Parts: sequence; C-alpha cells; structure tokens
Amino acid sequence: MELPYSEPYKIKMVESIKRSTKEQRLKWIKKANYNLFNLSSENVFVDLLTDSGTGAMSDKQWAEMMIGDESYAGSSSFLKLKKTVKKITGFKYFLPTHQGRAAENVLFSALVKEGDFVPGNSHFDTTKGHIEFRKATAVDCTIDEAFDTSIIHPFKGNVDLSKLEDVFKSHPKEKIPFVILTITCNSAGGQPVSVKNTREVSELCKQYGIPLYFDAARYAENAYFIKKREAGYENKTIKEIVKEVFSYGDGMTISAKKDGLVNMGGFIALNNKAVFKQATVFNIMYEGFITYGGMNGRDMGALAVGLDEATEFNYLESRVEQIAHLGKKLVEYGVPVLQPFGGHAIFLDANKFVPKIPREEYRAQALAIELYIVGGIRGVEIGTVLADRDPFTRKNRFPDLEMVRLAVPRRTYTNNHMDYVAACLKNIFDTREEAKSGYEITDEAPIMRHFTVKFKKI
Ligand code: F0G
Repeated sequence: MELPYSEPYKIKMVESIKRSTKEQRLKWIKKANYNLFNLSSENVFVDLLTDSGTGAMSDKQWAEMMIGDESYAGSSSFLKLKKTVKKITGFKYFLPTHQGRAAENVLFSALVKEGDFVPGNSHFDTTKGHIEFRKATAVDCTIDEAFDTSIIHPFKGNVDLSKLEDVFKSHPKEKIPFVILTITCNSAGGQPVSVKNTREVSELCKQYGIPLYFDAARYAENAYFIKKREAGYENKTIKEIVKEVFSYGDGMTISAKKDGLVNMGGFIALNNKAVFKQATVFNIMYEGFITYGGMNGRDMGALAVGLDEATEFNYLESRVEQIAHLGKKLVEYGVPVLQPFGGHAIFLDANKFVPKIPREEYRAQALAIELYIVGGIRGVEIGTVLADRDPFTRKNRFPDLEMVRLAVPRRTYTNNHMDYVAACLKNIFDTREEAKSGYEITDEAPIMRHFTVKFKKI
C-alpha cells in the first residue's frame, strides 16, 4: 500500500476557536454590513479569509524571536535574514519592508510613472492598486485557459507570450518599466507558472530590453507544483527550483506573510545597483532604515528561519496536499470549484454555484455570506467587488470569474476542519436553487473598496 503524506511536525500549542449558532451569525453579519472583513474573528469558527500572516510559526522560529537583535542599524537579525535571502533567491541586494504592498510601494515609487504600462499575469489587487494609483495601467497577459475554471492545465498562471509581445510592440520601451510575474498567480486561483514559461518570458523581456520582476508571495508553493508537474524537475530539490526560477528575473517583491511563514514582513531583492539605490531612498522615507525597513529584529530572525522551512519538500507536500484534500471532497460533492486546485486556496465558482443571483447583485459575495451564516466559515469574494470600478469610467468591472476564495492558513488547521468546511458547502449546494437575489452596495471607498464596502440585502 502506498503511504499517505502526513504533516512533518507535531503540535505543541493550541488555540481555542468558538462555535456559534446560526441565529448569532445572522445578527453578526448584518451588524458587519455584510462585509466579512468587518466580523470580529472571535465570531468566526474556521477562518479562511486569507493565508496571509495567519500561519503557525515553528519552535525554531519562536526561538529566533527570543534572540532577536533590536538594534536600529546593522542588527544581527538583519544580517541573518540578508544571508538567507541571498541563499534562497540568489539576488544581490535586499531591502526589508513591513509587508508585501510596502515592497510594491517602495519599488514602484522608484520605477513606475504616470502613463506607464506594467504587463504581467493577473496582478494581485495591491499590485494593481499601486500601479493604478500612479496613473499607470496593469495589463493582464495570462493565458486564456486561466479564465475557464473547468479546464485542466498544469500551469494556469502562465503568461501568453503573444499577448505580452503585443504590449511590447504597442508601447515605447520607456513606457514599460518592467514585467511582473506573480508566482503563484493568486488572482488566477493560486495557479503556478512553469519554469519553461518563466524562461520564455525572461527571454522576450531581454529581447525588448525590459526588466522582469517577480511578485513572489507564494514562490515555494510554485516550486512544489513545478517539481510535481514539469518534466525534468521531479528530482530537483525545492531550493534548486526556487533558485533557477529567480535566476530568470531582475528582482522581486514579496509578502513574507505567505511563503515566509511569518505573521508580518516583506522585502525587495534585486540585482541592479542603480535601482537598489533609488529604492533605498523610498525605503528610508516610507519604511525605516535599510537594516530593518518596518520589521522588528525578532521578526527578521523568524523570517530567516521561515524561508528555509518553507522551501522544504515535506512541509510543502503537506501544505499543498491539504488544499487538495478539501478540493477533492468538494468535487466529490459536485460543488463547482476551480481546477486544478490552487496552492494556497480552493476557489468556488460562483457563476456555476449560484447563477440565478444577478452579477449586479454580487453573487460571489452572496455565496461567501451564506457560507458564514451556515458554518461560521469566513472566505473572501474574488469577483466584482474586488475588481473595483474602472478608474476612468467609474463603472463596475465584471471580471470573467466570480469566485469565493477559501484560503488555508499554513500549519494551522487539520483535515477535520477541511471536512467540516466541505460538509457545510455540500449543504449549501443542495439548496442552491433557492438563492435568487444578492446584495446592493451602500457605501464604498474610491480604491480597494472590498476592505470597507458596506452592503444591504436585496
Ligand atoms: N502579492 C500577492 C500575490 C498577494 O497575494 C498579496 C497579499 C500581496 C502581494 C500583498 O502583500 O498583504 O503583505 O501587503 N495577499 C493577501 C491575500 C492579502 O489574502 O491574498 P501584503
């Protein structure tokens, strides 16, 4: 008999979570203006809002917390992190930031100007936000297969090279500061990018003289998929794959809250000295001195250990296969989910799940609310609400996919929790015919509205 995978750790400390009744949840979600971000986490049973900063640190990371060096300049924790970043990514220069969007803010302040175009695979919302805030345009060049939730393709995060070349051909080089490749591609469903595609994108970029940067929040999960799915990589270690992938680029930004296995942190790493110098100025202005950049010494120490642990195969196998465990259960129940399953989350296809709720009434948001009411489970809408309004016409943008993301924190929940989530969804799916109306927005911010938007039930 083939042995199943199992977690390469045992549990040393537990945190209680509270069950509640449906009546309580109906009251709480109404009070939260039907925005799941407004719920108090105490009132959530299984929190799948995000895998960002919500994971469990190891005993070795906690040990680093105790010996963190909090010196303002040149702390030993910084030097530990610097060494690990060099070892894992291969990039020459490194700037710590307090999280991923801060890294974007610093790097884009140095590189992106009004009227620029920044092509890539589906940009994450903060990345797009930082581009659009500078009156530049994010151009999505993801392969078409990514937009059909039922097509099985091993690397749905890949860039369509002809779409990318069209962008290169239709704008002068000075208007394209860089290409950004998000690994894994969160907005396309946590889907990986292959080494082959990365290499081809890199070659095309070189041909047109345009730098290539990575948004590397889930770089380790991306490498796991490469090892499992790309010919020629089955015998390489995760660390070797990671190094090769990064070797095709000029630099990266990262939210360390994901594959850094820490609760807070981020950084920029790159090869170009001139860009590093420019970014340093913004880092000091926005984040802090270059040897801490918004992070505590202890957090930098924990991140150094986290980067090492996150690039170990056994950890990644239990991580990614836990998501697949949830996905397989849902498929067994007939629940429409994006396939192949993502590396950090399962995405419910709301267009197929609740097609009778009009898109104008935010059907994916309606499904996310229902999941909370039925099971106390918090997911997040990745659809029309998140897509925001067009910055120029101010009309709602209707993306191809309307999804609810169930992002699983790292090393936090057991497969029993996953089974509980699957059972709640089965019950909702069995009564889906009753869902005909959704929600109306009563208040929203001009950009990144999903965090604070308020709804009314229709
Ligand atoms: N890039 C990607 C691909 C991300 O998924 C995120 C965050 C960021 C950048 C920004 O990083 O939050 O540290 O500032 N994603 C979280 C999520 C919020 O829930 O997917 P941050």
